[in-house]
Amino acid sequence: MARGASLIGAVLALALGVLAIPAVSDSAAHFKCVAATFKCLLPKGATLENVTAVPDGGSFGEGAADIPYPTNPTGLPELCAVIIKVVSSPHSSYRFGLFLPTTWNSKFLAVGNGGFAGGINWLDMTNGPHFGFATISTDLGHSSASTDLSWGLENPEGRTDFGWRALHGSVQLGKQITEGYYKRPLKYSYYSGCSTGGRQGLKEIQMFPDSFDGILVGAAAYYTSHLSNYVTKVGLYNLPVEDPKHINWTLFPAIGETVASQCDMADGVADGIISSPERCTFDFSKIACGTATDPTWCLTPPQIQTAKNIYSDYRSSTTKEFLYPGLNLGSEAQWWILLADIKPTDFGTGYARYFLLNDPNWDWHNYDDSLVTLAEKTDPGQSTAIKYDTRGGAAKSSSTFGGLLKTQDFFRYFQIPGMQHCLGTVVDAPWAIGSASQNIVLGNGTNYWSVPGFVDEGHDALLALDSWVERGRAVDKIIATTWRNSVDPASGVLRQRPLCPWPQKAVYNEHGDVNVAESWSCK
Ligand SMILES: *[C@@H]1O[C@H](CO)[C@@H](O)[C@H](O)[C@H]1NC(C)=O
Ligand SMILES: *[C@@H]1O[C@H](CO)[C@@H](O)[C@H](O)[C@H]1NC(C)=O
Ligand SMILES: *[C@@H]1O[C@H](CO)[C@@H](O)[C@H](O)[C@H]1NC(C)=O
Repeated sequence: MARGASLIGAVLALALGVLAIPAVSDSAAHFKCVAATFKCLLPKGATLENVTAVPDGGSFGEGAADIPYPTNPTGLPELCAVIIKVVSSPHSSYRFGLFLPTTWNSKFLAVGNGGFAGGINWLDMTNGPHFGFATISTDLGHSSASTDLSWGLENPEGRTDFGWRALHGSVQLGKQITEGYYKRPLKYSYYSGCSTGGRQGLKEIQMFPDSFDGILVGAAAYYTSHLSNYVTKVGLYNLPVEDPKHINWTLFPAIGETVASQCDMADGVADGIISSPERCTFDFSKIACGTATDPTWCLTPPQIQTAKNIYSDYRSSTTKEFLYPGLNLGSEAQWWILLADIKPTDFGTGYARYFLLNDPNWDWHNYDDSLVTLAEKTDPGQSTAIKYDTRGGAAKSSSTFGGLLKTQDFFRYFQIPGMQHCLGTVVDAPWAIGSASQNIVLGNGTNYWSVPGFVDEGHDALLALDSWVERGRAVDKIIATTWRNSVDPASGVLRQRPLCPWPQKAVYNEHGDVNVAESWSCK
């Protein structure tokens, strides 16, 4: 969620083949979008909730009944929309939605969720069918807003559905239904998700490496056992609000501007975008009372300490063991998510109450590091995704895979400087790459999909991944886009810039328009 080195678009392709597969156009006459088609495809324990033939340009979704995802996608290509409910244990069930486009590319795509949201992510299912993918999303076995974890109380089966079982079951059955519907085997399968969606994709391939041929994962909330406690810990640095150490959230953007003024140039180009926060040493005296550069505000010594705590890594108070990285320089514009309230975020307190301790009355004043130890040991719902070596064994670094170059044969990590969590920017940074949840803010649930105007493998990360997997074209860069109004493509392109596979960075060529991608190279 950092602004500087923020969203981490990690592209991970398990490239199995180098075959060119042309898109196959099916005629609608081959298959029927009616209940009878699906009833005979469903195993015991699965029931059909809905079958709707959506015409070209049509819309589908559950509206307000879907608490976290109430906006229905519109402008869909002609497709068959299906909702399936699956019993996962005597005490639990999950649902998933399936879009089966009339023009099928013989491929399958699963998309993920966000936070602890319980609902089918219909808007995130928009991209897939436009490209021809049969596309699924699951509600993860519960119905709730993203910050509401109360459904997890005394509900280990529900937590397991959240952790991995709902996605895995939906992928398996979704593939089966897809092949049954089109009466042809599918050729490739993919995953795309951000935040919790990123975690879900990593978890799935860690447990079931054969599920996907390639996954596109952004800002993965993968270290659930540590992250879900860290978000409480970081909140406590700024609490209680009566304490002199408290920094009012209204100052966060001003802190961010001072950080930008000091750290922007660390990458060599003055554009308001921090590309190398790791190269910047922030001078806190510039925001400290007495020495501050802006006469209208300053931080007292205890407030300066709070800011330093927020940027610091979380280490065990007793063993000094590293528990979680602190927030990056450049992340200030989204500090409000964790640091604005009079209490720590519900993500953390909800995790402690309803996942970890089964105690709805647990008081966050009682937080201590032992919760991390407990979470590591019990990992409620088995949601933590840290089995890095999918071949078995626990990899500690990329040396396990034969070093950086060998690792890059199947895994590439792209930072998106200046982007917020998963999407959007407050510093006019190029951010749009067609990855998970991005189209949701473009035009706010209108019919945008991919990167409007740039629907190709050079600009859309899912198409880039597809090309890597199927044609062996490793992704050397992805060109990110932003617009004059950063979420409104109709306002016209403002900037494009390449994103580079780590450890490369985009470097300005010293000539040409800085807003044009060709003026930059990956080095
Ligand atoms: C389900 O199917 C019925 C009948 O076709 C339809 O009226 C309804 O809106 C559908 N959608 C959902 C999300 O249930
Ligand atoms: C933060 O400042 C705003 C504006 O001055 C004020 O309305 C709000 O109550 C303050 N918040 C806290 C937690 O003190
Ligand atoms: C987006 O659309 C939803 C539903 O139509 C609406 O409630 C919300 O206010 C809109 N948000 C913005 C930023 O326009």
